[in-house]
Amino acid sequence: MALIDKHAILEKSPTLLLAFSLAVVSIGGIVEIAPLFWLENTIEKVEGVRPYSPLELTGRDIYVREGCYVCHSQMIRPMRDEVERYGHYSLAAESMYDHPFQWGSKRTGPDLARVGNRYSNAWHVDHLSDPQSVVPESVMPKYAFLARTPITGEYVDDLMKTHRFVGVPYDDDDIAQAQQDFRTQADPEADSADLLDRYPGAAVANFDSQPGVSEMDALVAYLQVLGTMVDFSTFTPDASR
Ligand code: HEC
Repeated sequence: MALIDKHAILEKSPTLLLAFSLAVVSIGGIVEIAPLFWLENTIEKVEGVRPYSPLELTGRDIYVREGCYVCHSQMIRPMRDEVERYGHYSLAAESMYDHPFQWGSKRTGPDLARVGNRYSNAWHVDHLSDPQSVVPESVMPKYAFLARTPITGEYVDDLMKTHRFVGVPYDDDDIAQAQQDFRTQADPEADSADLLDRYPGAAVANFDSQPGVSEMDALVAYLQVLGTMVDFSTFTPDASR
């Protein structure tokens, strides 16, 4: 009997056809799904990557609210032109605490994945308030209102709890200290030892040089941490994976 005729046996018996289709679909399904059980292995943990501080996390919310991702990506591809312009290509681990991630898909403006520490706080405040005053040909909108919008951080612990819910490892202490940390980071006079213990490398400053905490303070604190968590002078990719 030719192979094609054997197939006819399957086609004529609904039960056999069902059983065989099920077997084929199961094999396909396992091949697709099984690797996901080991997905954790694909995200290499990298030293230095930490959750955002309360002020940075608030700034990140403002970044998302204002749609900065519509014009800015946060993902440096491993191509030479990108690496020479923006710095070390982005690691998956660098956005592991970003919910949702801000990789973006449009670059009207430059990539911001490593903009942290590249400019002074004053530069960011001037630029965000009136981009054309710094870069005359810029098409970026003005965000001067951020400096005129005070924030108290009263909901920042809820924000952190939400991020904990989706896997960011904030502990109870981080959340209990959130409002304090929020104010401390924007106040260079305050004792920031605890804050820096929890969030190493966080920039502590009166970012907008005005009394009180504004949305501008939060956004600049966020911009200043972007891409600075991993020390690339000592980082070596794990070649065993
Ligand atoms: C309409 C598009 C657009 C939007 C929206 C936009 N930007 Fe920009 N941005 C640009 C362009 C174009 C440049 C380059 C010219 C300049 O520096 O102003 C730029 C430059 C920048 C730079 C300097 C980057 C560098 O490496 O020189 C920063 C920081 C920045 N934007 C932050 C933001 C933030 C934060 C927001 C949201 C509050 C935002 N941008 C919204 C278009 C945009």
